[in-house]
Amino acid sequence: MLVLGIETSCDETAAAVVDGDGKVRAQAVLSQIAEHQPYGGIVPEIAARAHLSHLDRLIAKAMADAKVEYADLSAVAATAGPGLIGGVIVGVMTAKAIAMVHGVPFIAVNHLEGHALTARFTDGVQFPYLLLLVSGGHCQLLVVEGVGRFRRLGTTMDDAAGEAFDKVAKLIGLGYPGGPAIERAARDGDAARFAFPRPLKGRPGCDFSFSGLKTAVRVAAEALPEMTEQDVADLAAGFQAALVDSTADRVARAIAQFRTDYPGGRTLVASGGVAANTALRAALTAVSKKNGLSFVAPPVALCTDNAVMIAWAGAERLKLGLVDGLDIKPRPRWPLDPAAVPVRGAGVKA
Ligand code: KG4
Ligand code: ZN
Repeated sequence: MLVLGIETSCDETAAAVVDGDGKVRAQAVLSQIAEHQPYGGIVPEIAARAHLSHLDRLIAKAMADAKVEYADLSAVAATAGPGLIGGVIVGVMTAKAIAMVHGVPFIAVNHLEGHALTARFTDGVQFPYLLLLVSGGHCQLLVVEGVGRFRRLGTTMDDAAGEAFDKVAKLIGLGYPGGPAIERAARDGDAARFAFPRPLKGRPGCDFSFSGLKTAVRVAAEALPEMTEQDVADLAAGFQAALVDSTADRVARAIAQFRTDYPGGRTLVASGGVAANTALRAALTAVSKKNGLSFVAPPVALCTDNAVMIAWAGAERLKLGLVDGLDIKPRPRWPLDPAAVPVRGAGVKA
């Protein structure tokens, strides 16, 4: 089995070829960070145009590096949502064209399912498992029951975790993307200097909220006569510690529910860009150990957006015979658990 995967839903243009045994045959990723940096965040129109300019070349490179002919592909899989719709359209149309011209099946992959199934690719994690999905657009706790089968236990009521990192970074003068910048700055900071709130800590349920924490950082920053390098480090460290602490509390609650409802479940998985954060990984390792689960987080390059995860999700679907027609439409929103009650709040994306 050989699957070509295409990812264009955010600010990474990526193509990869994986096989059914979980080996990467080739991959090519182009980050658009430099294009968006002057604006302090992702500009959707610029992202869509950049995907259009680079995708063909990246696919050709991945195919050439993998030494694979299009006709040898078992399927072509593309992110069909959720994400910035201009970019998603570029990826889906390209995949459909390849599928049509070369007569290979097309698979529409939910970007979040790509993140969700990565741990099966890297570590062979068995269903069911508990997943903390933390990225720039999403912050959810889900039980992954199987391919295409998710049960949401909690979600953010306002900002996603990565969005909180990005907004706070901007606020304290660190560049985009904010997560890695905050993590770097926090290394030299005193996390105890500012007493930031731990949103929802100790409260029932598994939902998240980060906008109050972001406001607390802003108020603290504005109260400083001027922001020195040490102030920035202390604010970054204090913010990161509060976000990690609050997240670990929500995860502990989700683990309790998961262990009750799925006695056979053994693993907590973290995925999405924020799962690259070392402090978060350490806290999740501790909370898993304390509550009797093992913890798995894919290597950083497979936590942030990439096409390997899309190709792999395509391979998992293909094994179950789940292929799509060429009439499938790209979707800006596409919840993994359609039965979950929609949460409404500032900044909620899905
Ligand atoms: O999964 P991803 O690459 O794209 C989305 O689908 O959103 O996640 C990007 C997000 C950004 O908000 C970025 O700031 C955050 O992940 N991020 C981090 C780290 N690396 C990336 N957040 C905290 N610590 C990091 N080391
Ligand atoms: Zn993502």
